[in-house]
Parts: sequence; C-alpha cells; structure tokens
Amino acid sequence: MAITFDKGVFLLSSPKSTYVMRLHEGRYLVHCGWFSRIETWTGACDMPLAPRSFAPETDGTDKNDAFSLDVVKLEYPAPCGTDFRASAFKVSSLSPAGEDGEETISGGAELLYKEHRIYKGKHPLPSLPATYTEDDSEADTLEIDLGDPVTGLTVTLVYTVWNTFDVICRHAVFCNKGDRSITLLGAMSASVDFDGEGMRLLTLSGAHARERHPVIRAIEPGTQGVISRRGMTGHQQNPFMAILSSDATERQGTVYGMSLVYSGEFEAIAKQDQFGTNRVQIGIGNHNFRWTLEPSCAFTTPECVMVRSCEGLCGMSHTYHELYRTRLCRGKWRDKERPVVINNWEATYFDFDEEKLLRLADTAAKTGVECFVLDDGWFGHRRDDRRALGDWDVNTAKLPHGLKGLADEMHRRSMMFGLWVEPEMVSPDSNLYRAHPAWCIHSEGRPKSLSRHQLVLDLSLADVVDYLIGTFTGVLSSAAIDYIKWDFNRSPAWFYPGQAHKYYLGLYHLLEVLTSRFPDVLFESCAGGGGRFDAGMLYYMPQTWTSDNTDAISRVSIQAGTSLAYPASCMSCHVSAVPNHQTGRITPLQVRGAVAMAGAFGYELDLNRLSETEQGEIKDQIAWYKKVRPIVQFGSLYRIKSPYMSALIAGGNNAPDTLGWSAWEHVAKDKKAAAITIVWTYAEANAPFIRVKLQGLNAKDIYRFSSLKSRTTEALLKALTFEAPTGTAPVPDGTEASGEELMNAGLCIACSPTQGGSIQLYIRAL
Ligand code: DGJ
Repeated sequence: MAITFDKGVFLLSSPKSTYVMRLHEGRYLVHCGWFSRIETWTGACDMPLAPRSFAPETDGTDKNDAFSLDVVKLEYPAPCGTDFRASAFKVSSLSPAGEDGEETISGGAELLYKEHRIYKGKHPLPSLPATYTEDDSEADTLEIDLGDPVTGLTVTLVYTVWNTFDVICRHAVFCNKGDRSITLLGAMSASVDFDGEGMRLLTLSGAHARERHPVIRAIEPGTQGVISRRGMTGHQQNPFMAILSSDATERQGTVYGMSLVYSGEFEAIAKQDQFGTNRVQIGIGNHNFRWTLEPSCAFTTPECVMVRSCEGLCGMSHTYHELYRTRLCRGKWRDKERPVVINNWEATYFDFDEEKLLRLADTAAKTGVECFVLDDGWFGHRRDDRRALGDWDVNTAKLPHGLKGLADEMHRRSMMFGLWVEPEMVSPDSNLYRAHPAWCIHSEGRPKSLSRHQLVLDLSLADVVDYLIGTFTGVLSSAAIDYIKWDFNRSPAWFYPGQAHKYYLGLYHLLEVLTSRFPDVLFESCAGGGGRFDAGMLYYMPQTWTSDNTDAISRVSIQAGTSLAYPASCMSCHVSAVPNHQTGRITPLQVRGAVAMAGAFGYELDLNRLSETEQGEIKDQIAWYKKVRPIVQFGSLYRIKSPYMSALIAGGNNAPDTLGWSAWEHVAKDKKAAAITIVWTYAEANAPFIRVKLQGLNAKDIYRFSSLKSRTTEALLKALTFEAPTGTAPVPDGTEASGEELMNAGLCIACSPTQGGSIQLYIRAL
C-alpha cells in the first residue's frame, strides 16, 4: 500500500519518494517533508517545535507555548489568527451572535483533524478535468477531513499517490456543514512548505508569440511567483512551476514540479518566511474569486499534479510527459500517432476558395501530408477578422460544395479533413450577436470591450453552452470531419467575481459533450497559439497549437520551455514560409523542418510557391518524420542543450542563450533507437567544435547512424559563386558506435555552412 497511517503519521510513498504528514496532538495537520523514499518515519528528523519570539500561541491554553501555527510547516494553512503567513484559502462568514447578541463578519477559520479514508484507485473530480487511473491498482488515494468548529466548514484534502510515477495529485473539497452560508474568497489546490536553503523557483513566462520561456529566480524572503488575471491561463504565465534545489540542473539535483489541471485564472506563488520555510502554493487564488457555499453545498478546487524528481529537470519532465500522455489525455488519439498536417492559415489567410484549397491539397498529398486543416474564414461573411464569429454556416461563395464536398475531396486524396472553429467567441457583426446581444461577457452599463474585434460568449450561462452544443454537433455532423482546431483569440474582460470559474465549468461541460459525441475526431486546442497550453485543455484535446510564432529559431526556445511540463505529442509545430511572418527571419527549410519535427508535425505555407527542390525536400522531411514519429511522440525526451541552460547555473541570468546551439534527443522506450537534432541558433564563421553527449541509450548496444539530407542546402552550395568552407558529413551514414561511447564521450561536431544550420540523425541498435 502506497499510503499508510500509523501513530498519527501519514506516509505517501511513490517509487522513489515519500511525502510525510503528521497530526500534532491529534488536531493539526503538520507537513514534515517530501523526501527520497523512506520506509518508516520515527519523527527523529522532524522539525523541532522550538519556542520563537512573537509567535502567537495556537490553542489558547498557555500550557504549550512551543507550538504555534506560525512556526511549523503546515499541510493546508487555514486563515486562522495564529499563522501570519499566507493561508491556502480565504473565507468570509457570519460569526454566531456573541454575548451582546451581535453577529459579526469573520474572515477566519481553523482546520482541525476529523477523520480520514484510504482507498485504492482514484475518483474523478466533479465537472473538472483531472488525471485518471485505468485500473485501481495504479494508485491509492487518501482523503483527510479537516473541520472548523465555529463555522462548520469542512475541508477534505484529497491525495492520490501513483504506484509507477513519482507523482502525488492533490485537490481540496470545501463543504459547508454549518447552518449559515459561507463565502469562499480564494482556494489553492496545493500548498507545500519546503525547507532547504538556496531553493529556486522556475516559471514559464512570456507573451503572445513568445510563450513559456523558463524564468528561474531565487526564492527570497517575501513573495515571488506568477499570476494570471486574464480570464484564461494565458500566454504570459503558465499554470506550472518547479522548485529547484540549489544544485539542480537539467540532469541532477532535486526538482519538485507543481502543475495545475486548469485553464482559467490562477496563482503560482512561493513565499519565504522568517525562518527560511518556503510556502509554495498553486491554485485558483483569490483574485476576483467568490463562491457562496450554502449549507450542505460543496466546492472542489482544480487538481494539482505534483512531481518529485531527484534527476533534475529531465526526470521531472519525463514523469509529466508519461503521466499526461497516458493518464490525462484521453480518447482514441491518446495512443495514436498524430498525422502530418497542412494548415492553410499562413498559406492563404482569409483569401481562399475551394479551387485554391484543392491546389494546395494536391501538392500536399504528393509530399505525404496526411491531414488538410481548413483554418479561419470558411463560414458566414467572414472575409477578415472583423466579423461573423458565431455564424457557423459554410460560406458557399468560397466553398460551393460545402464542408461535405471539401471533406470528400480530401478523403479522395487519402488525407484526413480538419476544420478550424472558435466556438467561445462572437463578432458584434454577426447574426448570433444581433439575436443575443446579452450572451457576451460584459459589465452592465459599461462599454463592451472588444479585442481582435470580438467578444467572448458567456459560458457561465447554461443557455449559451446548450446552444453551442447544438451548433457544433451540427457542424461536426455536417461533413466527415476528422480533426478540429479549437481556437480562442482574446482574453475575456469584465468577469464578475467567481464568473471566470463558472465559465470554465461551462467550457469543460461543452468539451466533454462534444468530445464524447465525436470520439474519432482529433481535437487540437489553440488560443492565439499557446494562450491556453495547459493540462486542463489537454484532458479534452490531446494536442495544442504551441504558438502563433512559427519562426524556427524562436520555436527552439518556446518548445524547450513547453517541454518542461508537456509531452511532444501535445505540441503542435509547423514549418512556415520565409521570411517568417512573425519575425521576418529567413531560416533554411532544413532548420524549419528540424525544429517542427520536435512535436506533432505539419506545414503551414503555400506549397505551390515552392521550387521543385523545396517540394522534394518536404517529401524527404515527411518520410523522415514518419520514421522517427513513434520515438518523438511516445519516447523519452532529453534536452541535451537548451537555450535556458545558462540560467540553471548558479548566478546565470535568464537571457536566452541565443549565441549558440541547441540539441535534443528523443529515445525509444526500449532504448533501441533515437532521433537526434542539433540546431545552430546563431551562425558563426569558423565556429568552435561542439560535443554532443547523447543520453538514455543502452551502454553496451552498438548503434548505426543515418542522417537526413537537405536538397535545398546541397543546391545552394552548388550554386555558390564564392568559395565556401568545405565540410564533411557530421556523422557519415553507416557509422557505428557504442551507447557508452556516444553518452560518455559524445559526438564531436564542427558546424559549417555546408550543414545549413541543423543536423538530424537517427540511430538504431544493431
Ligand atoms: C490564431 C491561431 O493561433 C492561428 O493559427 C489561426 O488559426 C488564427 N487564429 C485564425 O484566426
């Protein structure tokens, strides 16, 4: 059993770690720590209960002055008067009438142990996305009931411990067992008090088209962390953080990940107290949150997935990748190789008709593309982004044979057919808005705030959700649609307190219904690129459009950051045209292919404007990707060198390491094959040698190499009118080397222009 309770001590043990809590005097739930695996806990290593100045006594008896909630590590700190640090939730309630008969508003609660239950398996969270077990033997669950004797509030802390992953999933359930209403003003999913010097906080921060760049900072006295107040998780901050020991790097040291399975506003905060304890919390937080609990009513927080790794960031990522790929994502596509896509957005934008699309499809089919995705602009009178969201009838001027005709044409070309939708939005210039002007999120009496000329439908209203279920059931039934790209292109403004959470409950219901009704469809989420790249959306849609920035060099950083928490199969990545539409940068086709192949791969450019040589290279790229696809999508990722490596070295700053190179390796689960990619993010003349130490191989196996050649690079070299430095193939095809040689010595490579800025290698054990 992974969970034990003995003499007031709870031990939660996963394969390599143990999470320890104990009851103090049978009343207070104290956190003891989260360690490398320990079979028994005697208490000898517990934090001492030393008296501290200015620490208020907790139980008011004056007999026990060593115990103050302000000093100990706590499992789920209540907003009580005797812990001055951050509480895990906030409440407001009416206190019972005092001696003078007056009722007063109270903002406090105390949590005392009542009882607990341990059972096999894991229960779903009501109306919320969460990880799941397929068999009860995979995990054990502990529920601890804590209660406030004055208000009748009960908080149940729910912990699931996995037997094959170093993971603890947590959430809290608030229940009003009193007889007056209680208002919840904030609720974290998890709170962990870490002790240990020199710990650091890693978050994934950025902006639209610049998402999820790792930022690492020291945890210092006071508060540090990230918050989303945008009505969505957002491009700016991701609902994920990692706590790093002072010596943690990519491959070593202790790392604790905390990832929230949620798509709305959140806080991820680390606060260091006067004695060096780092209180780390993640959850909905208390910005603009308000939830009234009438007697007998309950509120469930989203789930937090906590990972402990003693093998640095790499170990943490491996755990998240495997867990999220197999026990968060669901449905038919969870374990299926994702198709190579052509998307028409950057190829045509709004300027297309059936004929143009079919010309693109013809060329795509010849190169080996497996799915054609029709992006924005196919419905209503949508000729630009100023109109028609909400009017989901096909525009027959553009598509005279409708979606059905187009889908059939794609199938005739042996390609799947995908369709872009943006169900949560409405344009003021639309029939839907004219019929239901009150259906958008707004604040009565204030101007309706537009962003990208559109408004957000209020999914906290059941009528709106029902309408969307009906409308999109119709769209999905109207043609043989195999793939949906579900977009969301603005941050909602003017949510009233608590409305954002109601909105996400509405969205999750909508997604649950549609994904269950259309189980064969591959759903991809998108929010102006990666504005809702979160574990909540992955529960319904197993992949996400990573970023609106398709520039290969920018994508090296974005994808490396994203890969800290999210698996390759979930990261949608496309090759686009040059000059790149977001940065203006010109990058060889070879490099664009190499970078996009780190995830669910595709193209997003007008293939008909490419030369024969370029089209030939695309054919080679797709054939190569199909060979390495199972390793990329289902194997283990090793970030051999990432743009943020320097930030991991103590004293390093967070500026991306742009003057250099990046390399990553996907290794098959049986270690018999691997795909290696090296990209020079900066071209240098006469550059130094680099050494690329492979990882995760079988030491004694002998591996044989092959590499992907680039027709455009070769053609360019032939056409050069000046004398280019000559180069040899970095690793000639057929080269053989042992796993230990490749891992311990590593490949020694000279970069020259003859390599075109990237190298893609494949190795297979003999
Ligand atoms: C934003 C997406 O990220 C793009 O890929 C594209 O689908 C546009 N929206 C369409 O409006």
